[in-house]
Parts: sequence; structure tokens; C-alpha cells
Amino acid sequence: MNPLTQLLHLVGSGAVAYITARNLRDSRTRPDMLAGFQLAEGGAVPYLESLSQRAAAEGDAWLAEKLAIHAQDERRHSQIFAHALKQLNKQMIDFSALPKQTSTDKASGTSETANNRRSPFLAAYYEGYSRDDLAPQQIDWIVFFASTHILELDASKEFARIAKVLPDSDLASANLKKGLLSIAKDEERHAAYLREAMQRRLPYAEVCVQVDDWRHRKVNAMLAMVSNLFKQGGELPSLTRDGAPVEVAEDQTEDQTAGNQSKSQSIENQRTEDPKTDSELASV
Ligand SMILES: [Fe+2]
Ligand SMILES: [Fe+2]
Repeated sequence: MNPLTQLLHLVGSGAVAYITARNLRDSRTRPDMLAGFQLAEGGAVPYLESLSQRAAAEGDAWLAEKLAIHAQDERRHSQIFAHALKQLNKQMIDFSALPKQTSTDKASGTSETANNRRSPFLAAYYEGYSRDDLAPQQIDWIVFFASTHILELDASKEFARIAKVLPDSDLASANLKKGLLSIAKDEERHAAYLREAMQRRLPYAEVCVQVDDWRHRKVNAMLAMVSNLFKQGGELPSLTRDGAPVEVAEDQTEDQTAGNQSKSQSIENQRTEDPKTDSELASV
């Protein structure tokens, strides 16, 4: 990795962790941060399940199992954030009750709107790849492993940093802190198996090239996101409403094709007209 990329990565990660931690500590912004996390984490589940099925069909039982576990972990992460929201007597907006602006093809996991409205972060991160290229049925495995490895690795560090600065003074914060630390461990494990998956298919030198390439893309994506935030500069749309939530519905993200989540995206989710669409892309 060249020194500038490394520097920008460190600065960018620090900034994301700082902004996220500040917004989680502030009772006015905490619900929307939690909802953004719930959306981003839960949005990955259907995508990972599809990939697991594809790996099984291709005869890679090792990968199929890792992806199935990954999907279960992300579902649990989403539930942790849903529970934290519940403790604040808030729940995420039910996006399924909003008028649909897009047609979603569940079979292929693609959405017309998402094609047209990929967030600046994801547009930059996956520059050169169409939404179809990134669909679970056809994404190049190496692209999936490397791009998701970087997002998981960063998510792990960011969650751990955020947990450290949360106060222990109240039960809700203490519980959230515990949840964040356990999520950080899972994300670290995800990053590790994705790297291992690359190593099973590529020589070591090529793995390093891939990791460097996606690190570089991540830095560009962060810059694109920050520049977009400066341009928008307005009020953030709320992702939550008052009231005790129903339990986290497993199908709340059924038409989401998310494959990767990042804390950067969670921040950005709050700036979009259609948070569901923005989260769903996830990577994709
Ligand atoms: Fe996660
Ligand atoms: Fe993860």
C-alpha cells in the first residue's frame, strides 16, 4: 500500500469512528445511528445466504459453511442494534409501509432504483462493476472476498473503537458497549475467513495485490462520501419512530441485496432519500 493511501485510510477510519461515537453518545442522534447499523447489518443477510447456496452448488462446502455462519452473525448484529433501539423505546421505520418507488426483482436480487441510486461511497468503491456484476449469482469470487475483507476488517476496528468511548454510566450504553465488542470480534473473524478464502484460490503475492487494490478503493470511497456529505449539508432524514418495536423481522430486508456493510455506509445511510435502497446495495 502506498504511504498516501495508508495515511488517508488511517485518517478516514479515525474520522468515521469519531463521528459515529459522537453520534452514539448524543441521545438525539443515537436512535438514527442504531437504525442505520440495524439496516446495514441486516441488509447483508439475504445476499450472504445466496452466496452460501451458490458456493454449495459449486461444490465448495468450506466456503458455503463460512458464508452461512457469516449470514447468521450479521442477522444477530442487526438484532443487537434493534434491541438497543428498543431500549430507547424507538423502532426503525417500516420501509415496507412506504410507497414503493422501485421494482425489485427478488429472484435476481436486483433493484431498478438501486442501480440508479447507488450511494457515492458504493459507487466509488465498486467503480467499474455494474450491479449485475455484483449480484450474488455472478459476482467474481475474488472481488467478493477482497472487497468484503476490507469492509469487515475496518468495521471490526471501528466497532471496537466506538465501544471504547461509550459510557458505562447507564444500562443501555453498557449493554450496547458489550454488543459492539462482540460484533467487532465477529467482523474480525469474517475478515479472516475472507482472506483465507482468497489464499485458497490465489498465490500469496496476488492476495496482497487484491488487498492493496481494495484498500485504495476504500480510501477513494471515503473521500467520495465525505465530499457528498459536505455537498448535502442538510437535515438528516430520520430512520426511526417512537414506540416499542415489533421483534426484528427476518424478512425486513428480504429484498435487500446487501453483501457488505460498513460503518461508513451506516453514516451515509442517514443522508439518503431512500435509506433502504442505499443500504441494500451494500456493496452491491
Ligand atoms: Fe456485522
Ligand atoms: Fe461482518
